[in-house]
Amino acid sequence: MDLAGRTVLVTGASGGIGQAIAEAFAKEGAKLVLSGRRASELEALAERVSGRVVVADLSVRADVTRLLEEAGEVDVLVANAALPGSGELSEYSDAELDRGLEVNFRAPIVLAHALAPRMVARGSGGLVFISSLSGLAATARSSIYNATKFGLRGFALALHDELHGTGVAVSAVLPGFISDAGMFADTGLQPPPGFGTRSPQQVAAAVLEALHANRAEVLVAPYPDRLLSKIGGMAPNLAGRLQRLGLVGDITEKMAAAQKSKR
Ligand SMILES: NC(=O)c1ccc[n+]([C@@H]2O[C@H](COP(=O)([O-])OP(=O)(O)OC[C@H]3O[C@@H](n4cnc5c(N)ncnc54)[C@H](OP(=O)(O)O)[C@@H]3O)[C@@H](O)[C@H]2O)c1
Repeated sequence: MDLAGRTVLVTGASGGIGQAIAEAFAKEGAKLVLSGRRASELEALAERVSGRVVVADLSVRADVTRLLEEAGEVDVLVANAALPGSGELSEYSDAELDRGLEVNFRAPIVLAHALAPRMVARGSGGLVFISSLSGLAATARSSIYNATKFGLRGFALALHDELHGTGVAVSAVLPGFISDAGMFADTGLQPPPGFGTRSPQQVAAAVLEALHANRAEVLVAPYPDRLLSKIGGMAPNLAGRLQRLGLVGDITEKMAAAQKSKR
């Protein structure tokens, strides 16, 4: 798809990966609609990429509807906004639980439900859903994040097949640990021994690759991380035993503590 002059809606554009995605689309000549809650971050990005800002809280259903109205005709949706959703389930308040599900799972589906028919009618468009390697394999203290990322991945893969032949590309992009900026980098933690990182710019490049090639799924992580995640997804009993033996160390406890304020 030639992106010059096309309208691209990026949710979570104020975040680490969202900014890199917006910048990558701007280089392709796209017109950007940038959404998130933090107006100041979005305005600064909008200046850099000549974008338009729509401030919206995706945990508020009326805001999701308003975002659709204010975004107007959208050629490509990048559903990137998410909360870290880490921590033990028993520590979650009902409000935190609802927020995680609404932002990470319901909002992308509602946006796609509204936008996809218009793209199909035009015979072109794209929907890219930012899932995670946590959409392939689960860990303790990540039940909400795993639930939403597995779910979003399943939604994207189903829609990819459903819209085959319509001219509308649908992809799931699954980053692993991302360095420099974003919800993992913000914790100041390092990946467990044997795991590596990729940059926000590499996630952005994967989004463009997924869209241009209409790839069902693209993983953005070093080979060992991708392999372990796939094995973890295929063999959850083994993955659980390896985690209890210390494969990922104490990273899940540390991430939950560092990300608690983002629930
Ligand atoms: N960083 C990683 O290592 C990593 C790994 C795998 C997958 N991912 C995925 O990559 C995507 C981007 O994450 P990131 O690392 O860039 O995280 P981030 O820096 O924390 O950004 C999260 C984005 O989501 C937005 N958001 C959060 N709550 C929202 C709400 N209630 N309403 C509207 N927007 C909301 C934030 O905007 P405001 O704060 O302005 O509301 C922000 O723009 C997510 O889907 C994440 O799950 C990240």
